[in-house]
Amino acid sequence: MKEKIIKAIKAIKDPGYALHILLYRYGKLSFRKKIFHHSEEYRSISENGDDLGSVAEIGCGYGGQALVNDQLLEVKHTTLFDLPFVNKLIERYLDTYLLNGAYKVTTINKEVCRDYDLVISNYAFSELPKKLQLKYIDKLLAKSSRGYLTMNSGLVDSCSAGKLSIDELRDILPQFEVFEENPLTSPYNYIIAWGYDSIFSNKMMKIKNV
Ligand SMILES: C[S@@+](CC[C@H](N)C(=O)[O-])C[C@H]1O[C@@H](n2cnc3c(N)ncnc32)[C@H](O)[C@@H]1O
Repeated sequence: MKEKIIKAIKAIKDPGYALHILLYRYGKLSFRKKIFHHSEEYRSISENGDDLGSVAEIGCGYGGQALVNDQLLEVKHTTLFDLPFVNKLIERYLDTYLLNGAYKVTTINKEVCRDYDLVISNYAFSELPKKLQLKYIDKLLAKSSRGYLTMNSGLVDSCSAGKLSIDELRDILPQFEVFEENPLTSPYNYIIAWGYDSIFSNKMMKIKNV
């Protein structure tokens, strides 16, 4: 199973484009699963190329991004923050694979403040109510040397009621740059990143003026 999936990832991998297709078999059935992911960007912002060190992810869905990171990059340990019942799904999904690194699922209430090499969140931190966003900033984001957040709130005209605005985020997050989401999946989406090598912005990402 593992060989098949790695083969599929490598065959379809197109560097610079954030879409991979996983092909996998379950009994006699074959499935194709599209995964939008940001592994190339994570590689670019990490200090040691492929080696991302210890990663935290906020709002992980079924754990697809964590799997792609594990297979394409080096991740010593990933701490996955989601809701308790979603964490069960993530464990069910990830435990069908033999991972190169290690992971644990947890919730915000179960963690003490600590620093990670990289904190990521795709369409998840930005969907949380302000009170929870502030808690994640306090416990995780403010202490992480690198961050990469795919945002779908915070700009005027987007679905931002009850969430931190981009100006409020500038005041409380580590100093960050704003980039275009590519491919753009919704008109007011954008990327927030900090702690990256300056080559990162030139090579991978286009600055967004907001
Ligand atoms: C729109 S989904 C994004 C999932 C995934 N990152 C992706 O790109 O497909 C939002 C995620 O945030 C999670 N979420 C909701 N409340 C949360 C909380 N309090 N802490 C962490 N994650 C939460 C949801 O369960 C879901 O996995």
